[in-house]
Amino acid sequence: MLLEKMNSINKIDQLDKLKYVLHSLDGEKDKHTILIVDDEENNLQFLKRTLRKNYNILTASDGSEALNVVRAEGHNISLIVSDQRMPTMTGTEFLSRISDDFPNIIKMLLTGYSDIDAMIDGVNKCNLFQYISKPINPTDLEIIIKNGIEAYELTLSKNTLLNDLRELFFTTIKAISNALDAKDTYTHGHSHRVTMYSLILAKEMEFEEDMLEEIETAGLLHDIGKIGIPEDILCKPGKLTDDEYQVIQGHAPGGRKILSTIPGLKSVSAWISCHHEKWDGTGYPNGLKGEDIPLPSRILAVADTYDAMTSNRSYRKGLPHEVAVEEIKNCAGTQFAPGVIEVFLKIEHKFREAALNPLKVYDEYSRLNKDIEDK
Ligand SMILES: [Fe+2]
Repeated sequence: MLLEKMNSINKIDQLDKLKYVLHSLDGEKDKHTILIVDDEENNLQFLKRTLRKNYNILTASDGSEALNVVRAEGHNISLIVSDQRMPTMTGTEFLSRISDDFPNIIKMLLTGYSDIDAMIDGVNKCNLFQYISKPINPTDLEIIIKNGIEAYELTLSKNTLLNDLRELFFTTIKAISNALDAKDTYTHGHSHRVTMYSLILAKEMEFEEDMLEEIETAGLLHDIGKIGIPEDILCKPGKLTDDEYQVIQGHAPGGRKILSTIPGLKSVSAWISCHHEKWDGTGYPNGLKGEDIPLPSRILAVADTYDAMTSNRSYRKGLPHEVAVEEIKNCAGTQFAPGVIEVFLKIEHKFREAALNPLKVYDEYSRLNKDIEDK
């Protein structure tokens, strides 16, 4: 195509020629790409002729060839029109085979006779946008295709909006979490490490993707209630008075109060308010016991304590990994949930590795980060 254009304009000087070609290609880049699949050459040519003015057209004469085109060009294709009756593979079979990998491509099925089974298959298996009966006149075809392209654009903008919202959500949470870590100079990076350890445990416990995201959010925000604690108490190096200790304890319900007003963070706010509860009922703020404590809070409790024990503070050095593991193990059934400790002991080596390289390991486990990168 590039050569064709170059030859057709051989009277224009080189610079103008280059500008013209780049401009033309740009125009083609802006056009949507449609794949037409039909074993009847006449039909294929009719569809191509009708649509090529407004769209980039790819063609295939059977399902296998079409699969290869989609494998190579799928991310550039906005819409597929496929004939139903073709040798080796039906239209519905072809469309259903690409449906999972390319859910956003608009799929249309074309057939010369009323085939109810194909229609049902198309709707159920291929997320069919429209069923087109042959013969069809060019004007109707153009309208149908235009509707399909509009639906495609709508899905794209919806996805972009959702991704933007997710990105905004995550970067906001990260910023709050960074601000929190910066406020408490003794526990620098604590929220991120607690999140990382919580994710290591939760992943081992085979939580669903959605739950892993919520646990990540809870980890990053688990100490958000400390925002309201005066720094002279929060950063006091020596022993706290009873009154001061009470103020510090207020960060757990305080965190709940801050987050409970945000739609979508109801569970997270409940979990973070329980991250200092203990399995035997001696924790705070409510003295919850055993399984009354939400599982994510039981996980956060272990992650929080491991980090508090092993990280260095300006006034003391962190404990060695083995000592922390031993102490945590001894608190199974009193401070910590036995089930969580069982998992912890199985994978404690992962905690040691993570502590040595928190940034890298956090990135490996982060779900929220990935969504942004994958965008
Ligand atoms: Fe805390």
